[in-house]
Parts: sequence; C-alpha cells; structure tokens
Amino acid sequence: MPTLQATFYGHTYDNPFMNASGVHCMTTTELDALADSAAGSFVTKSATAESREGNPEPRYVNVDLGSINSMGLPNLGLDYYLDYAIKRQASHPDQPFVMSVASYQGFDEYVANMRKIQESDYTGLVELNLSCPNVPGKPQMAYDFEDTDRLLTEIFAFYTKPFGVKLPPYFDIMHFDKLRPSSTNLTSNLSTVSILSAMACILMKRLIQWSLNLRVALVVSVANMLNRRLLPMSAL
Ligand SMILES: Cc1cc2nc3c(=O)[nH]c(=O)nc-3n(C[C@H](O)[C@H](O)[C@H](O)COP(=O)(O)O)c2cc1C
Repeated sequence: MPTLQATFYGHTYDNPFMNASGVHCMTTTELDALADSAAGSFVTKSATAESREGNPEPRYVNVDLGSINSMGLPNLGLDYYLDYAIKRQASHPDQPFVMSVASYQGFDEYVANMRKIQESDYTGLVELNLSCPNVPGKPQMAYDFEDTDRLLTEIFAFYTKPFGVKLPPYFDIMHFDKLRPSSTNLTSNLSTVSILSAMACILMKRLIQWSLNLRVALVVSVANMLNRRLLPMSAL
C-alpha cells in the first residue's frame, strides 16, 4: 500500500510535509493549529532574543502569482517559543517538531540564543536561520562565509542537541565550496540543511544546462559540504 510516511532522526512521520518557518507559526494558537493539522510536522516562527514588531506595514501583499513580503523578522521572542517548545515536547513526546532560531543583532545573539536552548529542557530539533532577508542594515549571515564558519565552530563547541541550518539561495557554484565548513567534524554535527526553493530552481536550471560531469561535480560538492543527505526545505 502506498504511503507518504517519512522517517527522519529516529521518528516516523505520517508524511514529509510541513510549513516553512514564518508561515502561520507566530503564535501558540497558530502553532497548535499546525500541530493538529494533517501536516507531518511543523516549524516555529524564527525567534530572535527579544520580540520584534518587524518592518512597518504594509509588509506583505498577495499578488496573482503568489506574494511579496518584507517582514523584517517579526516574532514574539525566544522565550515565548522556547516555553512553547518545552511544554509541547512534554505533552506530545511522540510528535517532534522543529524550532527555528534567528538573530537580529548578529553573531553574538546567534550564539547566546543557542546557548539558552542548550541550557533549556528542549531536546528537539533546532533550525538555525542563517538566511533572513529584509532586515534593514542586517545582511544575511550565510552570505558571509567566514562568519558562518566561525559561528558554526563556536556553536558546535557547546551545543550537543540536534540542529541544522537554513541557507539562502546561492548564485555562484563557488559559493557551495566556500560554504563548506573548514572541519569535517562540523559537517557531521549538522542534522539538517534547509534550502530555499529558489536554490532548487537554480540547481535544476543548471543541471539541465550543464554536462553530466559538471552535474556530478555539483552533487559531490554539495554532498561534501553536508557529509550527509540534503533535505529540501519544508520536507523532513
Ligand atoms: C511571510 C513570510 C515570513 C517568513 N518568515 C520566515 C522566518 O521567520 N524564518 C525563516 O526561516 N523563513 C521565513 N520565511 C521564508 C520561508 O520559510 C521560505 O523559506 C520562503 O518563503 C521560500 O519558500 P517558498 O518559495 O515556498 O515561498 C518567510 C516567508 C514568508 C513568505
């Protein structure tokens, strides 16, 4: 009998579909609705240390072919989501989900946020959002390859729970090599890597354009970076 079941990180989910962070996952009401929905799992809104209003409105508009947004990371703060995560984990230990963590202030806040989670009772998956656009004056962390490497090195020095990174689209094949953490020890610590669908589109386009050899090189390059399976965003 056909099944959509997907096994990931020691748990079998009914299906591999879930929301992407930021979409209907800001409040506990929205999160509970996702948890009670037919989705296999869910991910929380990316949390910064302090709650944020985000960019001035209008910041989200539906258009014929989808939507355009410049949200600026509005969220209710790390404590809010961590509290929800700890309670949800205790009440539904057999329904794992993903907690998304970001930073507004940059490097030190990323580290402090991860330290807080390490010291908390939450033991589930964390997705570190290194790819938040639309925050005026704050570049996406994952476009700074040296800082990303430094950040992961610092986090892995103390963080022992499962976590992955969410990356922005990259537009040059060299970036895949540049992103590869300097130590293979780092890659073996990553549990997931989420990529934007835009990146998947670029890869698809290139795969069609390029020769078989180059395709192999591309796959190896990405696989080396991760040292494990690449997981598309919004799928487990
Ligand atoms: C309104 C909105 C808010 C978002 N907020 C977040 C967020 O808080 N954290 C995050 O990692 N991604 C956020 N994203 C990005 C989505 O998770 C997703 O990566 C992006 O929309 C690309 O997927 P798509 O092509 O299916 O839209 C947001 C996207 C939208 C449209």
